Amino acid sequence: MATHLHRLLLLFLPSLLLFRRGTPPPPPPSPSAVYPVVLLPGNTCSQLEARLTDAYEPPPESPQCGAGSNERGRWFRLWRNATAMDDPAVAPCLSDQLRVVYDPAARDFRNVPGVETRVLGFGSTTGFLADTEANKDLCMGRLVEALQQVGYRDGETLFGAPYDFRQAPAAAGQPCRAFARFTRRLRALVERASRENGGRPVVLVSHSQGGYFALEFLNRSPLSWRRKYVKHYVMASTGPGGLLLGMRNLVSAPDEAVEAPDALVTLPSPTVFGPGTPPLVVTQDRNYTASDMSEFLTAIGVPPLGVTLYETRALPVQLGFRAPVVPTTCINGVGVSTMKQLVYWDGNFSETPQVVYGDGDGLLPAASIMALDTVIGGARGRSTTSLSSLPTRLTPALSQMLRP
Ligand SMILES: *[C@@H]1O[C@H](CO)[C@@H](O)[C@H](O)[C@H]1NC(C)=O
Ligand SMILES: *[C@@H]1O[C@H](CO)[C@@H](O)[C@H](O)[C@H]1NC(C)=O
Ligand SMILES: *[C@@H]1O[C@H](CO)[C@@H](O)[C@H](O)[C@H]1NC(C)=O
Repeated sequence: MATHLHRLLLLFLPSLLLFRRGTPPPPPPSPSAVYPVVLLPGNTCSQLEARLTDAYEPPPESPQCGAGSNERGRWFRLWRNATAMDDPAVAPCLSDQLRVVYDPAARDFRNVPGVETRVLGFGSTTGFLADTEANKDLCMGRLVEALQQVGYRDGETLFGAPYDFRQAPAAAGQPCRAFARFTRRLRALVERASRENGGRPVVLVSHSQGGYFALEFLNRSPLSWRRKYVKHYVMASTGPGGLLLGMRNLVSAPDEAVEAPDALVTLPSPTVFGPGTPPLVVTQDRNYTASDMSEFLTAIGVPPLGVTLYETRALPVQLGFRAPVVPTTCINGVGVSTMKQLVYWDGNFSETPQVVYGDGDGLLPAASIMALDTVIGGARGRSTTSLSSLPTRLTPALSQMLRP
């Protein structure tokens, strides 16, 4: 493993240095000379608007929510709304209205009754929440700047596909209106981007959670469509093995399993953390690998519905993680301390665990990243040495990809 990592680092270093030394940027391309680019940002980088209807009932402990005369019937910013988050009277309303709940009748996750939501600015990158320095890295802001510096124009050659990050693609055959809607819109966007750029196929770039949406989108699109419209897929910071953060969070709030489709889908996958691999959770009496996830969820107090949702909606997506059969490049960070094991020695999940850290990108353990080699296969694994888990800059490899 160490040698492998080392090799990847060496692979990447020359180009990183070249880039740092300031290779002169290529002249701005005319719009007709590039492949259009479509970006899918990571978790929390998309903006959501909401509208309350008469069906909205405030939580009992916050009766003030939705009580104002002008609060129902008009669209307002639900995410991200800093004013509301900082106001102690309004913050609980925001949390309540941001929830998604499972509707057994529809067999799907939806907003709480009385809350309608919509994703703002589909088609554009201008709505990505890259407005602060920290968020510029987190929400593809620097990549957008780098692309604009080489001549890309938002809405002409550069496009954004924000999505409802509270949701996740569900297993094929399970109703998932959020993902179905996203799929329709992204397909239309890709076709328009291509049409308006001389019929050239697009380069799709995803970061982190965006990878789940992009990969499922590609794998569920007809192969002929993919081949016609997708020149290249670049997947940054997504790994087929998932990550431990969601497990850790669910231990503290097991009831939330039925409200967090996004967390369920990123739980460590049996493909990478199955039998024969070091356990993800260690207790005196029993260890858990990803193949014991259902037992683990039950042990920490996740309601049976949550376990079923994991098994029927999320697990098949994890197990189906596969190469999208278009040219693909994976970009991942390494060298950042990353959660790889939780020790609850006494078997008391109310206690603070002893966390064992290992190599990774800060969220994805190295094993999850390395598995790209076997699961995505053929794809070129590249790795950044930058401390961040978020390699969203315009690397030379990426620049090359953009020119016909
Ligand atoms: C932020 O949230 C508050 C409370 O819900 C709302 O009144 C306000 O209009 C929101 N801001 C924007 C820009 O929509
Ligand atoms: C659990 O895993 C730890 C660390 O891999 C190992 O030392 C221990 O023997 C295992 N315990 C059980 C009960 O399997
Ligand atoms: C588990 O840990 C919590 C928090 O430290 C403690 O309050 C509780 O009594 C413990 N439960 C048992 C069964 O030891």
